[in-house]
Amino acid sequence: MLIPSWTEMSLRRRVPVLIILSLMLAAGASCSYEQEAPIGLPGCLDKCGNISVPFPFGMNRGCFRLGFEVECNHTFQPPRLFFAKGPWSPGNYGPTQETRDWYTLAGQEIQEIEQFLPLEILGISLSEGLVRTHGDISLDCSINETFIWVRGQQTYLSGPYLLSTRNVATAIGWSFDAKLTQSLRGSGYMKSCSVRLEASNMGRNGSCSGEGCCEVTVKENLNSVSVFLVQTSPYPGIEPNSCSYGMVAERGWYNFSTPDFHGFALLHKYPRGVPLLADFAIRDDLCPPQGQGHACVSSNSFCVNVTNGPGYICKCHHGYDGNPYISNGCQDIDECALRIKHPELQDIYPCSSGGICKNTPGGYDCPCKSGLRGDGKSGTCTEKFPLPAKIAVGSILGLLVAAFFVFLVLLQKERRKMEDFFVKNGGPTLEKAKMIKIYKKEDLKPILKSNNFIGKGGFGEVYKGFLDNQLVAVKKPIFSGNVTDVEQFANEVIIQSQVIHKNIVRLIGCCLEVDIPMLVYEFLSKGSLDDILHGSSQVPLDLNARLNIAAESAEGLAYMHSKTSNIILHGDVKPANILLDDNFVPKISDFGISRLIAVEKQHTNSVIGDMSYMDPVYLQTGLLTDKSDVYCFGVVLLELISRKKARHSDNNSLVKAFLDAHKTQKGATELFDKEILEPKDLEFLNKILDIAVECLDLDVDKRPEMTEVAERLLMLKRSRNK
Ligand SMILES: *[C@@H]1O[C@H](CO)[C@@H](O)[C@H](O)[C@H]1NC(C)=O
Ligand SMILES: *[C@@H]1O[C@H](CO)[C@@H](O)[C@H](O)[C@H]1NC(C)=O
Ligand SMILES: *[C@@H]1O[C@H](CO)[C@@H](O)[C@H](O)[C@H]1NC(C)=O
Ligand SMILES: *[C@@H]1O[C@H](CO)[C@@H](O)[C@H](O)[C@H]1NC(C)=O
Ligand SMILES: *[C@@H]1O[C@H](CO)[C@@H](O)[C@H](O)[C@H]1NC(C)=O
Ligand SMILES: *[C@@H]1O[C@H](CO)[C@@H](O)[C@H](O)[C@H]1NC(C)=O
Repeated sequence: MLIPSWTEMSLRRRVPVLIILSLMLAAGASCSYEQEAPIGLPGCLDKCGNISVPFPFGMNRGCFRLGFEVECNHTFQPPRLFFAKGPWSPGNYGPTQETRDWYTLAGQEIQEIEQFLPLEILGISLSEGLVRTHGDISLDCSINETFIWVRGQQTYLSGPYLLSTRNVATAIGWSFDAKLTQSLRGSGYMKSCSVRLEASNMGRNGSCSGEGCCEVTVKENLNSVSVFLVQTSPYPGIEPNSCSYGMVAERGWYNFSTPDFHGFALLHKYPRGVPLLADFAIRDDLCPPQGQGHACVSSNSFCVNVTNGPGYICKCHHGYDGNPYISNGCQDIDECALRIKHPELQDIYPCSSGGICKNTPGGYDCPCKSGLRGDGKSGTCTEKFPLPAKIAVGSILGLLVAAFFVFLVLLQKERRKMEDFFVKNGGPTLEKAKMIKIYKKEDLKPILKSNNFIGKGGFGEVYKGFLDNQLVAVKKPIFSGNVTDVEQFANEVIIQSQVIHKNIVRLIGCCLEVDIPMLVYEFLSKGSLDDILHGSSQVPLDLNARLNIAAESAEGLAYMHSKTSNIILHGDVKPANILLDDNFVPKISDFGISRLIAVEKQHTNSVIGDMSYMDPVYLQTGLLTDKSDVYCFGVVLLELISRKKARHSDNNSLVKAFLDAHKTQKGATELFDKEILEPKDLEFLNKILDIAVECLDLDVDKRPEMTEVAERLLMLKRSRNK
């Protein structure tokens, strides 16, 4: 099938007037292979020299898909790879390069040399579905005025191969009209282009538009290409010893350069020919719509229909690379490793500098490092907090830290203050006393709440609560100013804590970590005598009970007054400071403390004690003695027998009334409380009144001692109970 065209060309060559580059196409209809599954791929050679040979290509029997056989010729160094020649059935040849050279001297053909060589393979690209082979260059050279050398070449592709449309047919020539002709498979379609050179216009580098160079695109479905240069008319300007060329080569490979048509420049530049691309495909199978072509045996592979001719090629899924034609051929691409190995791929596999590249099956992730936000793969990792925010957060943090330190300093100061108070309030002295418990500020905090508040006196506020599993009353002094005689206070507290008497409220402990020490007392359920006598609920109280309260209160006071080493004065004896337990047993409270405060208040010339009970002598002299307590107790006795409240506001009328009644000997009968006024008890009441009046004597020396008062009241109690 070759011969006619070559003959035709040879004949034409005898009348050389025209360059014709013709692409002749041989029908590929006769390609037919038996479907044969590839087997035994392991153990197959996959390299020839430095050229990779992937399946479906292969060199040995069982190593290739039919039609994809290639041969490695080891007589070359390095070895060179060729399409296999066969065996082919009649009419079928392996991809072949045919070259013919004619030499003509003075119009007479003197020699013709014909060569059939397998096409050499320069590279195989599975993903592009192409084989880079190389074709010869057709030429028409005037060696001298009479000697002409013409070379024609034809490339035959067969089996799964077609001439790639990524080729372009180019003619460059020296003062010729030129024609490029190509024909489609089975139809003989021809196309031509002309080259014209004039002495005035020798063409431009890189431009292939008719001046010294012209080109024609290659159609689909070509499986044979031949390039003929036919000179149809002699041109006077032709340089001796120069050539015109025709070639089919990869588009973009050749860049027209004007010196190329002087002498044998082009031929010398490319002695082994020009790169020619051949498309291959699995031509004997269909790619189903789902893309699962039979030849694509690897997982993660799929088939795509080719555009040049029938059939498909196999591809690995996105993120996988390798040979989709063998099992497990498609391997996951480790994009992250690639990025490191080939920095130029960092544009293809982007991962922002703030991201951490992590390979995944079929892809990779690029999460941003902590502290950064965004996605390093699709965008950039940016600071989670931009600078202004950072500054803001920074300053806020700074302020917080500063605030924290200020707080620490304040806390330290507070602690020091508490320590100072502790020392100032006689803590070190009190700590030595085993009888009294020193409470921390925190211990009392839960008790000092408004719903625990039970009363308020001249001394301070009183709260009720549980401490160490017992009911206690916490007294929180409210007066302001410094307690000057701290040592004295501490001593008195110690003394009182050591005084355990049934008629004196027991001091359990105190808290010294505050400006004014807080005191913790036993809690007494019935409240104060003031409440009992004058409260809203008018508790019935018979004479015995009253006598008992009087006698025992006196006993408590007497006990304190009688202590030889330290006389402890009350200073504010009144019903409100006499508390009663469940059995109406009286207990004197605020013992000693009031006195202390009274001493303190003396300097301010204001009297802290209740004016209603205040000893007028003390008011005059400002000197608090045990007899001041006796006076006050006298008032308490009057309240006990009258159930009337002594009031300073009504000019002490209660005391005056009793004193007057007592003086006139008329009897104070009408002043006594009706509840206890029984004829048989009148004598008792008068005896009590006698004691009271003695206590109220303005001559301090005539007032009885507290012990005497207690004794006399006790005797009265006993005589009545006989
Ligand atoms: C093979 O080696 C030759 C030279 O040694 C080089 O020009 C060619 O590009 C190499 N081919 C491949 C596919 O590496
Ligand atoms: C290898 O190439 C040489 C030179 O072209 C040729 O003579 C020989 O037959 C080739 N060998 C094979 C096995 O094709
Ligand atoms: C042209 O070249 C041929 C071969 O080298 C030679 O035989 C012939 O004499 C040459 N003719 C001229 C006119 O130089
Ligand atoms: C084309 O480029 C070559 C060098 O590559 C230079 O020698 C020649 O003069 C250039 N031709 C034109 C027409 O610019
Ligand atoms: C071809 O050559 C021209 C001129 O020298 C140049 O501008 C152009 O980039 C070249 N093209 C290629 C593909 O090398
Ligand atoms: C490939 O082409 C065939 C025949 O034209 C068609 O039936 C099939 O759907 C195509 N496959 C794909 C994946 O496009």
